[in-house]
Amino acid sequence: MKKWKIGVVGIRRGGAYAKVFHNNERSEITAICDLSEQNLAGAAEELGLADSACFTSFEDFLNTEIDAVVVATPIPFHEEQAVKALNAGKHVLSEVTMANTAEGCYNILKAAQNAKTRYMLAENYIYLDFIGQWKKYIDAGKIGRIHYAEAEYVHDIRDRLYDTGTRKGETYWRTYRPPIHYCTHCLGPLMYLIGKDDCIVRTTAWGNQNTIVPDLWPSTIDMQVALFETKEGRILKILRSQVTPRSPHIVTYNVLGTEGCLESGREPGYDTVGARFFASSDKASVPINCNGTKLDTSLAVKKASGHGTSDYYGAQAFLDYIEFDKAPFTTAEQAFRLTMPGIIAHEAAVEGHIWKDIPQL
Ligand SMILES: NC(=O)c1ccc[n+]([C@@H]2O[C@H](COP(=O)([O-])OP(=O)(O)OC[C@H]3O[C@@H](n4cnc5c(N)ncnc54)[C@H](O)[C@@H]3O)[C@@H](O)[C@H]2O)c1
Repeated sequence: MKKWKIGVVGIRRGGAYAKVFHNNERSEITAICDLSEQNLAGAAEELGLADSACFTSFEDFLNTEIDAVVVATPIPFHEEQAVKALNAGKHVLSEVTMANTAEGCYNILKAAQNAKTRYMLAENYIYLDFIGQWKKYIDAGKIGRIHYAEAEYVHDIRDRLYDTGTRKGETYWRTYRPPIHYCTHCLGPLMYLIGKDDCIVRTTAWGNQNTIVPDLWPSTIDMQVALFETKEGRILKILRSQVTPRSPHIVTYNVLGTEGCLESGREPGYDTVGARFFASSDKASVPINCNGTKLDTSLAVKKASGHGTSDYYGAQAFLDYIEFDKAPFTTAEQAFRLTMPGIIAHEAAVEGHIWKDIPQL
């Protein structure tokens, strides 16, 4: 069996994927790249890599014999690194979101469409265990036609926005990321459940005040809530906040159909959230037993993966894409369709919650 040679750039979050691919019988990590030599050294030790596999120059890293690049750097670098990697004939698994600008999304899409290699967005929440089970309910027609869906992602990450010790001190890259830009953990699973024949065409959004952290903008906007209208007339609502005190953080989904509903619970966890199914014929909701199908975690590689086992299954989907040309949900086209709505929603909020069209493919 061919072992895919994978390189990872950005070794903090990228470290999770490095472990997953390194412990996978289908792949190995042969190069890592990061601006920080300290982060490189830590990852190299953990993965058992020689110094010669560690790079601070992205160009030198790209010149090694890797088949694929995991782009796990801060979002403002995704465009440049994904485009360069595709142009160099490498497959790309890019962390979310696709890019931080509309132009960046277009440029990556263009590069992916011109490349012989594949691009996949690593939207891991699609691979959460309960989302997979919901998909089966929906495909079996149990909730009828989805007409509305919503998601909330409230995660107080002030310590990743700025130096919380001094407040006015150092800021980090996420300082410049409006909450609603980071929308794919919400829109990804919802659009996956709805299906790829539909897509978001219009948005309006609210949220342009920062009262919790008054001196930084736009990441510290208290919250942003966006409405999205799809081509098929569905409505989606997303709530995002990066500063509202809510510990532990919360990610919830709620899908309404003509025959029933699917709802996740509000307790922490990834694969074992209290997901429930409501059918129009029943008075009571039916708990979906996520533990019943809990994935076999006996394999070390699954233990090493994060976000439940979703990082592992996302990585497997990427290997299936490059090996068997089995397209995942988050191809370059879907990456564009999932990222662009958040970029435009922020504009809609800033311009006074007006409706704006989403650029189409
Ligand atoms: N899918 C998820 O659940 C999830 C979770 C966390 C982060 N992320 C994504 O992962 C990416 C990285 O996030 P993070 O939390 O690791 O950020 P971070 O700031 O903690 O770490 C970024 C790493 O990249 C390195 N780096 C920065 N610029 C670089 C460059 N130009 N070239 C090479 N290395 C560079 C830094 O030295 C650091 O090691 C982002 O795209 C983020 O959105 C996704």
